[in-house]
Amino acid sequence: MAVTTQQLIQWKRQGRLIVTLTAWDYAIAQLLDAAGVDVILVGDSLAMVALGYETTLPLTLDETIHHAKAVRRGVQKALVVCDLPFLSYQESPQQAMHSAGRILKESGAQAVKLEGGYPTIAQTVSFLVQAGIPVLGHVGLTPQSVHKLGYRQQGKTPEAGERILQEAIALEEAGAFAVVLEHIPAELALQITQKLSIPTIGIGAGPHCDGQVLVTADLLGLSQKQPPFAKSYVNLREIITQAVENFGTEVKEGKFPDLTS
Ligand code: KIV
Ligand code: NA
Repeated sequence: MAVTTQQLIQWKRQGRLIVTLTAWDYAIAQLLDAAGVDVILVGDSLAMVALGYETTLPLTLDETIHHAKAVRRGVQKALVVCDLPFLSYQESPQQAMHSAGRILKESGAQAVKLEGGYPTIAQTVSFLVQAGIPVLGHVGLTPQSVHKLGYRQQGKTPEAGERILQEAIALEEAGAFAVVLEHIPAELALQITQKLSIPTIGIGAGPHCDGQVLVTADLLGLSQKQPPFAKSYVNLREIITQAVENFGTEVKEGKFPDLTS
């Protein structure tokens, strides 16, 4: 059965943790979906891991949709959520509606994610949700604000923590179906997770969230650099390099192809 936003909220009540990973193309999406991942996020981190940009900021709406279409074609079961790229939604709720509408209509993704909270973004979330567009929130470290925040952990003082809690509450009240908590103290993530009735999905936010998300390139060991809280479960850079070198050697030595292949 296909995963729905209502299912995620039910899973929170049941204590069933939510498995989320990012995808940027058909091949990766197909593998993640077949492996039973619940939520597949077309994260704007694809700007770095698939397109070689320095930050997520240059990514355009057209580029995002191009990747979301490929991901969607690889998914049968998981919920596909797509990031709204930088400055495709901050201008006004109308701009956000236009961008989110294009993503859903052109790619077939089922929901969008945007960064930030109270008060402007929460109003935008409410506008989208009222139009029937499911929204995933994202607070704490928000990489689209890198020039303002850096990549530092957020919510370290009681005041900063309180502000992030209030943002998460505002997003729930605006109708978000879940919220990503990025790079905040585990204690704060626990407090937010207990306070909200929608699920929290953590990245660098400790073990107490209702689910976890990683950038798949980090999990696979494909990234050249990754944040301190990411975990690689395999080193694909090494494995791919070895395979390519073996091919190179065999070609140069005249060993590939041999007469039987
Ligand atoms: O773009 C991304 O990959 C994300 C996740 C890390 C939450 O926003
Ligand atoms: Na993102």
